[in-house]
Amino acid sequence: MELLTDRLSKTVMDAFEAAGFDKTLGTVKASNRPDLCEFQCSGAMSGAKLYKKNPMEIAEEVAGRLEGAGDISEITVAAPGFININISPELLCEYLNGMSADERLGFEKDASAVKTVIDYGGANVAKPLHVGHLRSAVIGESVKRILKYAGNDVVSDIHLGDWGLQMGLIIMQLKEDSPDLPYFDTEHTRAYPHEAPFTLEELERIYPKASARSKEDPEFLAQAQEATLKLQQGYEPYIEIWKHIMALSKADLKKNYDALNVSFDLWKGESDAQPFIPDMVDDLKSRGIAHESQGALVVDVTEDTDKKEIPPCIIQKSDGAALYATSDLATIIDRKQSLNPKRYVYVADKRQELHFTQVFRTAKKAGYADADTRLEFLGFGTMNGKDGKPFKTRAGGVMRLEYLIEDINAAVYDKIKEADKLSGQQARDAVKMIGLAALKYGDLSNQASKDYVFDVDRFTSFEGNTGPYILYTTVRIKSILEKSGIDTTGLKLNVSKSEKEKALFLKLSEYNSVIRTAYEELAPHRICQYVYEVSDIFNGFYHDTKILSETDEDKRNGWLALLELTKAVLLSCLDLLGIECPDKM
Ligand code: ARG
Repeated sequence: MELLTDRLSKTVMDAFEAAGFDKTLGTVKASNRPDLCEFQCSGAMSGAKLYKKNPMEIAEEVAGRLEGAGDISEITVAAPGFININISPELLCEYLNGMSADERLGFEKDASAVKTVIDYGGANVAKPLHVGHLRSAVIGESVKRILKYAGNDVVSDIHLGDWGLQMGLIIMQLKEDSPDLPYFDTEHTRAYPHEAPFTLEELERIYPKASARSKEDPEFLAQAQEATLKLQQGYEPYIEIWKHIMALSKADLKKNYDALNVSFDLWKGESDAQPFIPDMVDDLKSRGIAHESQGALVVDVTEDTDKKEIPPCIIQKSDGAALYATSDLATIIDRKQSLNPKRYVYVADKRQELHFTQVFRTAKKAGYADADTRLEFLGFGTMNGKDGKPFKTRAGGVMRLEYLIEDINAAVYDKIKEADKLSGQQARDAVKMIGLAALKYGDLSNQASKDYVFDVDRFTSFEGNTGPYILYTTVRIKSILEKSGIDTTGLKLNVSKSEKEKALFLKLSEYNSVIRTAYEELAPHRICQYVYEVSDIFNGFYHDTKILSETDEDKRNGWLALLELTKAVLLSCLDLLGIECPDKM
């Protein structure tokens, strides 16, 4: 559906033109002074410079022509030249009924939608998840949903860190703890076990132990580096160990992501990029894109417009080892061959920005991404604890997502118990959804690039700008509709009568433009801000309106239709945030 502001703009543009001014001055926006008017146009001020005329005069002239225009109920002029507009309640009502009748609430797909790869999650196999991975999962899931909703053909890839030093560390530690395993024989005559020779719990202990040791024991570190290199060169016994690590770790990660209601189309990782590296290195060398510098192979990526220095992208170290950038570049080659996307979105810690700048520029320079392919980095800030330092769970250091979710759910459970309306199972289901909403909304409501403070008490509050508050409002609407016992299909909204009702109408009519902005900016926080406003305005309206006891059937049905639309808008927004809503809470 056409945006309401676009429709009003047309009317006002025509008036500018009719008054002898440039049409484009007539752009209308939602008012930033809702106390004064609903929509506004500031074209008279720009026109003043253009036509060397008093802006008030221009505004008066245009407003005069808008008097009595069907779309507009009230038009006023305010110094220094604003045209303030109130929309006709009939048009507003017609617009909302149009939204109600449309499955997508009037939100149109992007005509230039493209095949898009979104790279998020990015957990490292056999290493503990950290809060950055949580943010990547939560933000990435929402961005993925927004991209899809706008009509893009989206492929999500978790891009596991599964090929690094952690593998060599684990192998060496295993060798020390269990030297009798057949992987460590000098002659390989015994078969390798089908079952992993360690459990997940053991694996989780092996890595931190080995990692700590490598920091104190250079000998051990050197051995781990060598084991990593051997693995990367395809040494079979180590590949066998690696496969076990991968299987255990992936199953555990899957559980973690399931608990977050986050899913990926592809579970590929850095290891999948390795086969592409040798040819890529040859190619970069032979075409002179990469050159040697102090023994390493690098690609210069500076651009004339750079404000700060962008160091070259290192493809190979002097010892021949590949780096993070190498594997990201090779992954782009893999993705181009298998998916040929026109757009890439990477969701990772903003401290990786330089890395992605180097990779993107190299990919363009080498033609691994076409000139018209968009390579985008969506960098997020740090999740801090109340002490302002990067968040640690009660266990300290390592983040166990289960604990984090447990903490949140415990806080939610206490609050629900106060409400004390639900049976055991119902309460547990509701707690799970509310807990996740608290966690996700607490993250998503901040602009991604900013750091934020993880605050269980605030996030789980049923009041204020929180996930539980939004769910509470949505559930409230669900329950009024259910209580009414009326089949609402086909019911239509009536023209708004009260101010609070009109405020809700206006807010709902913004859905289309809010989602568009969230899509254009890949910014879930825009949707959070919006659902919060919708919820608040709805609750204000509901406070003043006795819906179910209304005896005028026509009035009551109109309100039920309004409730249905409010519910649909809230649920659609929540879905785009990756948040589920219970039926009762
Ligand atoms: N595994 C990386 C980390 O833990 C994140 C991966 C981000 N994606 C990428 N294509 N580099 O920091």
